[in-house]
Amino acid sequence: MSAIVHILLGAPGSGKGTQAKRLVEAFDLSHLSTGDILRDAVSKGTELGLRAKAIMASGKLVDDDTVNGLVFARLQDETRNVLFDGYPRTLSQAESLGTFLSSKGIGLGLVVDVDVPPEVLEARVVGRRVCSNNACGAIYHLASRPPASAGVCDLCGGPLKHRSDDTSEAFRARMTEFNATFQPLLGFYEKGPHYRKVDGLHAPDEVFQTLAKLFRESA
Ligand code: AP5
Repeated sequence: MSAIVHILLGAPGSGKGTQAKRLVEAFDLSHLSTGDILRDAVSKGTELGLRAKAIMASGKLVDDDTVNGLVFARLQDETRNVLFDGYPRTLSQAESLGTFLSSKGIGLGLVVDVDVPPEVLEARVVGRRVCSNNACGAIYHLASRPPASAGVCDLCGGPLKHRSDDTSEAFRARMTEFNATFQPLLGFYEKGPHYRKVDGLHAPDEVFQTLAKLFRESA
């Protein structure tokens, strides 16, 4: 069982996945992205994936009980410290997580809010391409981080894909969900000792340096 879980909060396209991949390497954490778990279920056509597919493509959130169940099952088997990316994202999820962590004696580490102004997010999301090899999942951007060879992952050679929820229309629906859920979630963590806010508008390397400093200081 993990000793500590850390949380990355932020809007769609704020850079949570990009930073999480670097942080887990640098600090030997286990990366738990609920979006990745759900996309994997969709691509495998599992019962969960069949239920989640249309919800995700439309930019809505999967129900809290389903997502909590996925996360708690993963935590039962996890021995390393964990970095959450995309979870919790509702007040109810945060409350359930708090209860679960207390019951298992798992500590809460950092809760980092990667803050990016809404006006830059759509271009980040629409231009994103991701490696379709789930074990790799590298994240690119057509303008700001293009692959060396168009459509091919630099790291594993897998084909790049455009996520089905990375259209302008789905992005706007995701922002509507984010705007409806984020303030109550923030209210849950903001006044606590674990909360930090980081400016996610800087270049990825700079954002990483800021985050890495926080993680070093919290160790
Ligand atoms: P999820 O996969 O969690 O998506 P999200 O939270 O909307 O976040 P994104 O993956 O879109 O963005 P990101 O912050 O990771 O940005 P990235 O680093 O890729 O969720 C997808 C769906 O699953 C949800 O809509 C919902 O249906 C369901 N779901 C998931 N979790 C759930 C939960 N807990 N409860 C209920 N439903 C859930 O970066 C984006 C782009 O910007 C990339 O192209 C990248 O190269 C670029 N970029 C990154 N950083 C920078 C930078 N600093 N400067 C310039 N460009 C940058």
